[in-house]
Amino acid sequence: MQGQHSGGKISAIAAAKAGMTGLRRLARPNAAAIGLAVMNEAIRPGPETPQQAAGLLQLSVVVPTFNERDNVVALVRKLEAALQGIAWEVIFVDDNSPDGTSQVVRELARQDNRVRCIRRIGRRGLSGACIEGILASSAPYAAVMDADLQHDETQLPRMLALLQGGEAELVVGSRYIEGGSAASFDRQRAGASAFATEIAKRVLGVRIADPMSGFFMIRRDRFEALAPQLSTQGFKILLDVVATARGELKTIEIPYSFGARLHGESKLDSMVALDFLGLVLAKLTNDIVSLRFLLFAMVGSIGLGVHLGTLFVLHSLVQLPFAEAQAAGALVAMTSNFILNNFLTYRDQRLQGFAILRGLLLFYLVCSVGLLANVGVAFSVYDQEPVWWLAGTAGALMGVVWNYAMSGLFVWRKK
Ligand code: GDD
Ligand code: MN
Repeated sequence: MQGQHSGGKISAIAAAKAGMTGLRRLARPNAAAIGLAVMNEAIRPGPETPQQAAGLLQLSVVVPTFNERDNVVALVRKLEAALQGIAWEVIFVDDNSPDGTSQVVRELARQDNRVRCIRRIGRRGLSGACIEGILASSAPYAAVMDADLQHDETQLPRMLALLQGGEAELVVGSRYIEGGSAASFDRQRAGASAFATEIAKRVLGVRIADPMSGFFMIRRDRFEALAPQLSTQGFKILLDVVATARGELKTIEIPYSFGARLHGESKLDSMVALDFLGLVLAKLTNDIVSLRFLLFAMVGSIGLGVHLGTLFVLHSLVQLPFAEAQAAGALVAMTSNFILNNFLTYRDQRLQGFAILRGLLLFYLVCSVGLLANVGVAFSVYDQEPVWWLAGTAGALMGVVWNYAMSGLFVWRKK
């Protein structure tokens, strides 16, 4: 999954440092730097707004990152060029990228106090990262954009002006209105994007042309009000914001062309379809049905098939005594459930390495107690009402709810 590296980490940083020296607030007092600073001071446009004059922060740019080491420096330089005359900060929210993205960001942040880094451990997810980034920032307006230069940073001043002027509370960078484009998409990705957009419009009643955009700017107070109802799972933060606001956000779309990625590769895989489905379900049912629970239950029913299949093979074909074949069936089913849940249901918190073994043992334990709960409930229902399918269903339901709740608490714990 790791992107290709240009190998120029150190030199890229050095170049960025050189480029930013003039604007650096804590620049070392050497003659060249002072000279540069004076030059920059001279060419920098004067303060444009009262906030700027008072030195108040105007814009927080939030950039989620996963393996974007080689893009970070270039992005900050582009922001710096695009946001001349605006008091801004950029917050990178990195999910502990193995390529060391957070180190590169910190390196930059040491030189420039407009740059900040949040490093999250044991979590994955674009939406959650964006939410945390916005909530950790403080300007009255917050933008979200990719780290890979696919989103056009030169649109940011215009987006900010629309918010500051009160024309909008949310400005969306749109690929699907006149003047916008997604030329860098291949046919498959373009088709998937169009399909998801259509579903979002029809099922969730979303009115904007590009609810799947990952590039937007929003008023902080509006975002803070919506934040408690947003889903942290998945990719589609803008769709979530718009669907949750239920038409109450004054929105303007401005066109931009979705460019080609600078370095590395896209983190969107075929599983984002699942995330999308989960978001639509959650929004439709007012958060009553969670995709995680549905997946967990689905894996459970696959487990039943696995159990019966194993039982059949061991008992009827291999001729093992029933009790042993049944026990083996249960063990095989629990193991396959664990593996499926680790890859599907909890893929954003996937256990890796040694933690898999510990998780598996805990999962066995959880499921064994779940089985007791299942049988207990089934017996007591049967006692009241001797209808076998009713008692059986009640028991099974109890089992899956128990297993789900306890697995979330003990096996795939949130960090
Ligand atoms: N923190 C964090 N955690 N960041 C992530 C994660 C994650 O799990 N997954 C991806 N990112 C970061 C990437 O590093 C990148 O900066 C940004 O989120 C978007 O991911 P990409 O991999 O570049 O996605 P894309 O370019 O295919 O799609 C983007 O653009 C589309 C069009 O605007 C996304 O923003 C889509 O949501 C959007 O539809
Ligand atoms: Mn991208």
